Amino acid sequence: MAIRRIKSGVHSVGAIDWDRRLFDELIPLPDGTSYNAYFIQGSEKTALIDTVDPTKAQELIENLKKLGVDNIDYVISNHAEKDHSGTIPKILELFPNARVVTNAKCKEMLKDLMLIPENKLIEINDADTLSLGNKTLQFIITPWVHWPETMLSYLIEDKILFPCDLFGSHLATSDLYATDEARVYDAAKMYYAEIMMPFRNLIKKHMEKLEQFKIEMIAPSHGPIYNKPEFILNAYKDWISDQVKNEVIIPYVSMHGSTEKMVNHLVDALIKREVTVKPFNLTKTDIGELAKSLVDAATIIIASPTVLIGPHPAVVYATYLANALRPKTRYVSVIGSYGWGGKMLEKIVGTVGNLKVEVLSTIIIKGYPKKEDLDALEKLADEIFTKHKELGII
Ligand code: FEO
Repeated sequence: MAIRRIKSGVHSVGAIDWDRRLFDELIPLPDGTSYNAYFIQGSEKTALIDTVDPTKAQELIENLKKLGVDNIDYVISNHAEKDHSGTIPKILELFPNARVVTNAKCKEMLKDLMLIPENKLIEINDADTLSLGNKTLQFIITPWVHWPETMLSYLIEDKILFPCDLFGSHLATSDLYATDEARVYDAAKMYYAEIMMPFRNLIKKHMEKLEQFKIEMIAPSHGPIYNKPEFILNAYKDWISDQVKNEVIIPYVSMHGSTEKMVNHLVDALIKREVTVKPFNLTKTDIGELAKSLVDAATIIIASPTVLIGPHPAVVYATYLANALRPKTRYVSVIGSYGWGGKMLEKIVGTVGNLKVEVLSTIIIKGYPKKEDLDALEKLADEIFTKHKELGII
């Protein structure tokens, strides 16, 4: 990634990873990602905010060289995960005067994960400031976005917030700023769903804390910079709110067509009732798209055939993931089919313990759906419609 000037004395020096397609061996990256790092030249001292994934270390080093950086006083580590702190050891090798500035928890994690020695670390507390001369950094400790040690850094004079993972997007783009708002909104929402959603209530508290800061720019460590911060702040306010939308999502698998017939019938029944519905065939869908749809949906209907007395493994995986992501969904139901018996329903209900939901009528049928089964699906659609109406979202 080319070096880009953001403000006088503040440059973006990180790397774009156009080709990466999987993060944490779990999260699909359809649009790649970036590891943003920022170099700040103060009148007295210099600071590097975060580093890059070790696979892109050379790019960061070359950018620093091109910028003519011959000294780094401080490396600010907002988060100990490798995609931001993995190149800190290399930076310390090249700039032996540099010290890593971070909070107590992150300090311990950097020692454990990156083997950074104690004498290279400077510990700060919440609200502490660090002067670079004519520029001052302030630290805002914000645990669990998305690890326990995460913090944000704020450049007081330029009113730039560096939130590391928070507010980011997995999006490889040559745009320095979030100019293509529709594209960035989509990527940021998927990122929120996959990474931040389980910590929705903590993010609410952190965002209240941020209200005391005048923020003119948000420069995250993934994806483009927000030069209109209200764009991403308003999006987050919506996503973290308790408000759900008139949406039903149906993650499903069908082996021989019975479950699919049920899903199709329910989809049509919901469309007739003006309920937005999104079926996700789990053998074809991108799991990130499914996660993104969990951000707003009022209701999830899990649909599965029966395999060896339980749900289809792809349904187990999706249900496990939905449970771990803790969406604000209000209602859940299970529909599906079996050939000769099993405990598919019990096993699915048993995996969604994290969700604070009401379980609606479930419909588990033997074989291919018959008239009475289709009638039961109509009734389930009525029940969903009534529940959504009670929430005031229809
Ligand atoms: Fe981008 Fe949690 O690392």
